[in-house]
Order: sequence, then C-alpha cells, then structure tokens
Amino acid sequence: MRYPYGKSILITGASSGIGEAAAQIFAADGWVVFAASRSGACSAAGAISLVMDVTDEESVARAVAYIKENGAALPRVVLHCAGYGIAGAAEDTPDADARAQFEVNYFGTLRVNRHILPLFREEGGGLAIMMSSVAGRLPLPYQSHYSASKYAIDSYTESLRMEGRQFGIRAALVEPGDTATGFTKARKMATPHGSPYRKNCESAVARMAHDEEHGASPLLPAKACLRLATMSNPPVRVTVGLPYKAVLLLRRLLPARLCEAIMGKLYG
Ligand SMILES: NC(=O)c1ccc[n+]([C@@H]2O[C@H](COP(=O)([O-])OP(=O)(O)OC[C@H]3O[C@@H](n4cnc5c(N)ncnc54)[C@H](OP(=O)(O)O)[C@@H]3O)[C@@H](O)[C@H]2O)c1
Repeated sequence: MRYPYGKSILITGASSGIGEAAAQIFAADGWVVFAASRSGACSAAGAISLVMDVTDEESVARAVAYIKENGAALPRVVLHCAGYGIAGAAEDTPDADARAQFEVNYFGTLRVNRHILPLFREEGGGLAIMMSSVAGRLPLPYQSHYSASKYAIDSYTESLRMEGRQFGIRAALVEPGDTATGFTKARKMATPHGSPYRKNCESAVARMAHDEEHGASPLLPAKACLRLATMSNPPVRVTVGLPYKAVLLLRRLLPARLCEAIMGKLYG
C-alpha cells in the first residue's frame, strides 16, 4: 500500500464508536495515532491518548502543541469523528441546542483544522477526512439541526478541497448510515412536554435508535478512512455500505416529492 501522507494521524472523537474503531484500524496498520476526545480514553493499543474538547479553542491549541512537542511524526492526516446528534421538532428546538450541535459537529471541525492545516502546509500537504453522514444528504424528520450540521460540513469540505489543492491539502467526506456506536445513547432530545410534535417525534426517534443499534459495525467506516489515507487524489465522498449508496442514488433519481413522501411514511 502507498501512504502519500505518511503514517501519522490525529483522530478526534477517538474514545468511542467510529473514531475508536479508526484508532484501532490505523494503529494495527502501524500508524502513529493521536487519539483525542474530551475523556482522553481510547482502547486502541499503542495510540497516544489526548484530552481535547473541540468546542474549546484553548483545549484544541493545547492538544496540538502537545503533538508538536511529542517527537513522534507530525500527523498529515486528520480524521474528524467528534460529534453527536440532537433530535426534536425543528419548531421545538431552542437556539441554544441548535448552536451547541453546530459547535461540535461544524465549528469543532473548523477549529481543529485551523490548528492542523498550517502543519500540513509546512509538511507539503495532508488529508482532512470529515465524518459526515447519509443524513447530510438525506434529512430525516426530527433531525433537522443534526442534518443541517452535516450539510454544512459537506459544503465546507468541497470548498476546502479547491482551496487546499495548491498546498497539497486534500479533503474528503465519509458518509456512514446507521452504525452501532455510542451515538444512540449520547443523542440529546429536544421534546418539550406539551409539544404537539412530541408523540410523532418520539416514535420516529425510537425507530432511528432501533436502526442504529442494529446498524453496521463502526469498523466499516473506519476501514473506508484507512483506504482514503492511501489515496493521493481521494474522491469528494465515500458512502459506507451498498444499501446507503443505493438510497442516495435513488434520492438523486427520484422526484423530491416522492422521496419526501417515502421518508414521511417511514419516520413521519
Ligand atoms: N452512529 C451512527 O449511526 C452515525 C451515522 C453517521 C454518521 N455518524 C457520525 O460519526 C461521528 C462519530 O459518531 P459515533 O457514531 O462514533 O458516536 P459516539 O460513539 O458517540 O462517538 C462520538 C465521539 O465524539 C466525542 N465527542 C463528543 N463531543 C465532543 C467534543 N465536544 N469534543 C471532543 N470530542 C467529542 C466523544 O468522546 P468524549 O465524550 O470522550 O468527548 C466520542 O469519542 C459523528 O460525527 C456522527 O455524527 C454516526
């Protein structure tokens, strides 16, 4: 295998789920793995655990300073897995909850990249992999702010690809579908008592939770990330799993109203 960006990686959200699976896969492939999360816990053998809250500028700066001083090879790949989801009716969700969602899923990614991309430029290039979601291109009811945060990351990534190319910086999105991780338990609910949406919202979220808990192994998206890290010209996006590739293809081909009706039947 070729390793156009060397074999050192920073992974955020590495204490659980997809990030932790990626830490295991990369470490097993002989990479230097900087495994960051708020708890600083990571089960991957040989990974260098770091405490980093992606919503906190100082915390990110401290972790990146540690990486620079550590003596191990500087990472030229960053994998953004820190994230969570909120669920609730669009009308019910307080601004503060929607902002908190973007603080982690969107601004958290930007914040880490602002500290890491200069290192990539100094080293002659690198690769930023953003963990997006099928929900970034196929919004579900009662997930509006989560989907919006992933839509935002999608556009950001496409722009970054064009801007970074002159410095050897590459960027790509990974889009998993339902994956069995800590995501389901960590989901924040915005379902106030007395809300007219509450009943439908709870049954839609119960269905999502069931699908996630019976979803794919986090090793699947993690392996997709390892494959991306061997490509000098990675694609914009990798959708994980054939069923989700098919769903997104149908989304492109079918009239929007028909898609909406199907999603409404499933989750509405
Ligand atoms: N599971 C799915 O079905 C699914 C599907 C599509 C996309 N995704 C995306 O995949 C990514 C990873 O999610 P997951 O499924 O692996 O969920 P997970 O098991 O809950 O892992 C989330 C990780 O993010 C970290 N994190 C949360 N807030 C953070 C913050 N402020 N700063 C730093 N780290 C933070 C958590 O660690 P600490 O609590 O220790 O900080 C944890 O390591 C997310 O972006 C999610 O949207 C998940």
